[in-house]
Amino acid sequence: MVVVKNICCIGAGYVGGPTCAVIAYKCHDIKVTIVDINPERIAAWNSSKLPIYEPGLDEIVFERRGKNLFFSTDVDATIQEADLIFVSVNTPTKKTGLGAGMAADLAYIESATRRIAEVATSPKIVVEKSTVPCRTAQSMRTILEANSTNEIHFDILSNPEFLAEGTAIKDLLSPDRVLIGALQTKEGLAAQEALVNVYTNWVPKERVITTNLWSSELTKLAANALLAQRISSINALSAICEATGADVDEVAYACGLDSRLGPKFLKASVGFGGSCFQKDILNLVYLSHQLNLPEVADYWKQVVTMNEYQKKRFVRTIISTLFNTITNKKIAVLGFAFKKDTGDTRESAAITLIKDFIDERAQVAIYDPKVSSEQIFMDLCEPGVVDTRKQVEKQIQICSSAYEAAKDADAVVIVTEWDEFRDDQLDYERIYKNMHKPAFLFDGRLLVDAAKLRKIGFKVNVIGKNELAGTA
Ligand code: NAI
Repeated sequence: MVVVKNICCIGAGYVGGPTCAVIAYKCHDIKVTIVDINPERIAAWNSSKLPIYEPGLDEIVFERRGKNLFFSTDVDATIQEADLIFVSVNTPTKKTGLGAGMAADLAYIESATRRIAEVATSPKIVVEKSTVPCRTAQSMRTILEANSTNEIHFDILSNPEFLAEGTAIKDLLSPDRVLIGALQTKEGLAAQEALVNVYTNWVPKERVITTNLWSSELTKLAANALLAQRISSINALSAICEATGADVDEVAYACGLDSRLGPKFLKASVGFGGSCFQKDILNLVYLSHQLNLPEVADYWKQVVTMNEYQKKRFVRTIISTLFNTITNKKIAVLGFAFKKDTGDTRESAAITLIKDFIDERAQVAIYDPKVSSEQIFMDLCEPGVVDTRKQVEKQIQICSSAYEAAKDADAVVIVTEWDEFRDDQLDYERIYKNMHKPAFLFDGRLLVDAAKLRKIGFKVNVIGKNELAGTA
């Protein structure tokens, strides 16, 4: 039986960092080293201000760091020491070349795999942690075997990560399931058992699912596609609600009571964001095309199309409500992260909205409790184009509170569902007093009690709700 004593994780990002920190926290007899080619990221992991914000992460890292949890840029030495290597590098959508805009860019996976092959001096279990297209493990195996300088045996496992940002630590400590796919060979099954034994240190055995490699790879894409599909479905219904006077919260609640549907992921919003949903669906679309399944590709593509439509629809509502022009008006945007409890802004709806506001020549004041000014500028400017930075600087103001953002604003737009924007936490009377009148509030997250804010004097517009809802 293979017993894992030394783990290397390649990629100290949103997945590699928290996942391996939790392994170290739960398995004191395993040495866990997380490596990255980005020295600033590693320096931050070794500092008192970690590079990512996740509730509960600091406590876990600070407890195990320097004991059995290490962060390093010495990729080669860490690979050599390890029995098991997680590959947790980024797999963004390709920007250029074949499959641009759809296929996953596997360059980082390939380069990490080649590195393992080149420097390994003992057998390794190599685990795909990154989300990858179905059958990537086959390519990794071929690369490992063809480039191994020491003719070493490698086993490949697929162990996709299902954590959600914002609840990553909770999800990792108590996962719905852990999925481990392996080749159905004697060696493959032994490697699978070794990784099962790592997780069962804290995850109940019945929640550790073992499958073949390809099922495991596809399950990750399938799970994200199904989750995003529910959001796009309720968002499509939100448009019907606004046009008919039905209330999307009431519809979602009543549908969710059906035990076949369940209540989760039925919250209408300005659209999903994050680094995964769109990328993984596009990946599935690309795979379907490659497999000559155009109807299947079109079906999943529509989930992304609906998401884009929802963002644009919200912008159109804002402009038309503000008397068909927002030029020189001040719009306060509350929230920039793609969802609450994370500082991650990748594919955040806020980016699309604010870019549209800038194009309409509005003045935009932004407040987010966890996103830095520099990150906001990076997301709003076209890389390498000096003029866009100047233009963006002229039109946006980054604020240190919701009150500062809303001062003298014509409209407040809630984009991220941070708890501090709820109507029992933020003093909306104070916000109202300091705004231009009429004072508009657009709730893209169904976060506030519209009736309460209307009593203060706000003109409130909520996604999926029509002001006349409930009237004859
Ligand atoms: P990330 O971009 O935060 O981190 C990836 C890290 O890998 C970066 O710090 C980068 O410098 C490093 N890296 C790239 N190539 C390397 C190499 N050759 N050697 C060493 N380090 C290297 O990405 P994130 O969000 O952690 O995602 C990683 C994978 O996990 C992706 O495939 C993603 O789809 C998947 N995933 C992400 C989830 C999320 O919520 N962010 C959830 C589940 C899966």
